[in-house]
Amino acid sequence: MTKPTRSPSWKSLQKEYERIQPLHMRDMFAADPGRFDRFSLKLNDILFDYSKNRIDEPVMRGLFDLARDMDLEGWRERMFGGEHINHTEHRAVLHTALRKFGDEPVMVNGMDVMPEVRSELARVKKLADDIRGRRWRGATNQPITDVVNLGIGGSHLGPQMAVEALRPYTIHDLKVHFVNNIDENHITSTLERLSPETTLFIIASKSFTTQDTMVNADTAREWLLARIGSESQLAKHMVAVTSNTEAAVAYGVARENIFKMWDWVGGRYSMWSAIGLATVIAIGPEHFEDMLRGAWEADQHFREAPLEQNIPVIMALLGVWYNNFFGAEAHAILPYDQNLHRFPAYLQQADMESNGKGVDRDGKPVECQTGPVIFGEIGIAGQHAFYQLLHQGTKLVPADMLAAVTNYQCIARHHRALMSNVLAQSEALMMGKTAEQAHQELTAAGMSEDEIASLLPYKVFPGNRPTNTFMFFTLDPRTLGTLVALYEHKIFVQGVIWNINSFDQWGVELGKVLAKNILGEINEGKPVAGHDASTNGLVNYYLGSRPRSS
Ligand code: F6P
Repeated sequence: MTKPTRSPSWKSLQKEYERIQPLHMRDMFAADPGRFDRFSLKLNDILFDYSKNRIDEPVMRGLFDLARDMDLEGWRERMFGGEHINHTEHRAVLHTALRKFGDEPVMVNGMDVMPEVRSELARVKKLADDIRGRRWRGATNQPITDVVNLGIGGSHLGPQMAVEALRPYTIHDLKVHFVNNIDENHITSTLERLSPETTLFIIASKSFTTQDTMVNADTAREWLLARIGSESQLAKHMVAVTSNTEAAVAYGVARENIFKMWDWVGGRYSMWSAIGLATVIAIGPEHFEDMLRGAWEADQHFREAPLEQNIPVIMALLGVWYNNFFGAEAHAILPYDQNLHRFPAYLQQADMESNGKGVDRDGKPVECQTGPVIFGEIGIAGQHAFYQLLHQGTKLVPADMLAAVTNYQCIARHHRALMSNVLAQSEALMMGKTAEQAHQELTAAGMSEDEIASLLPYKVFPGNRPTNTFMFFTLDPRTLGTLVALYEHKIFVQGVIWNINSFDQWGVELGKVLAKNILGEINEGKPVAGHDASTNGLVNYYLGSRPRSS
């Protein structure tokens, strides 16, 4: 089966949708006290509650049938088995090998990749240990106090998200900074606080050709050379992570300072590889290992648990349910843990670059909606910003809420108030408030019937808005690893259901090519006429308005 819409399960899900659409979750909960027990699962110390969804057993059965119709189990084995499931780039998809514990080989093109994975990880750990132990010295024999990761997309978002999430595991006299923007404001505002003698740059780029990263690397290089003087000393301040070793050598990075990644690791799935060097330096090799272990545990769960008890499979199917049957366009990620503040941004790339596709695996236009718009924010901040739309807007926006049972210091005043908000929001989104309840409240507040009549419509909350809640004991490296891997597998499952390749990203190419052409024109500085009228107008306006020096 290649077109999900033509599968028998799709048709029966359509009928299930018509049956369930008029039902309210509030009534489903009232009629069924066992709903939470049946629609929640645990993995390690992560509770996944999906009972506040517009589902019942027949719906879930239909969704599992759809997964089987689309041969999810077969695709899952093809991925773990190293087949070239990224067919447009002829590549295996094996980020799972990067966090694999155990002795079994992982074969890619007839070769076991595990020895190389382990030796590269050992090199990364050694460098991190040397920096953390103040054995790695800069050109003037001083220890490194600041590490700057220069990268973008998958070479930035994963490590940055992880370092922020695991901030309690970092050490105070070693700071890790991230620069991704080609806008000079980003690198200059970072460097003005640093000293070249005690700074190490990581040029993180799988391709080693990404313009944003290479322009930042040029600026970093100049900044270093201006202070430490000689090219020969650069090796003490610049390392690279790439699958394009020769380009890094040609750029002037010492060969022994180049850490390898492989073409079977997609950029947005690479935080487990040497791309995670900044993370290892920040939190230390042992905690990084714990993060890998947590991810590996999620891999085993995904590979072995029956679909009916498989968290990423259920996350994915619920997403399909709203995306394809309820017509939901977006999905919100709402962490209530401050340290997860980059998690929505990280998932935006992971999900939207993977499943933002309109052509299926057979090269044909898809016949259904694919990946949703992923957005999000720290839940508490969102409550005072965009939750109004979630509660009373005209759009259905399913959401994931994430919260820790305990925090590091766990100041009761803060944590209990925080938790009360997570719990209240998912309850409010699900239950809503009926006209009758609103009427009672307004009467109790002493309003006249006339006043109530004019205000009542605004006081009603429709409810029936779906949420998943992830509650974990605390945000430690293992839990973070598990959470991220669950989302990675969710994305994979959805790609299988929609019959798209989640592992290429041709859609980012066109802009890059056009930018290169326009940069040539900007450097030449003559008025242009070869674009559409708008682009010509904008280029020429810029050329005519820029100061002489820029
Ligand atoms: O432009 C998109 C992209 O290719 C992402 O897929 C990738 O994560 C990012 O750019 C950075 O690429 P690189 O690591 O090769 O610099």
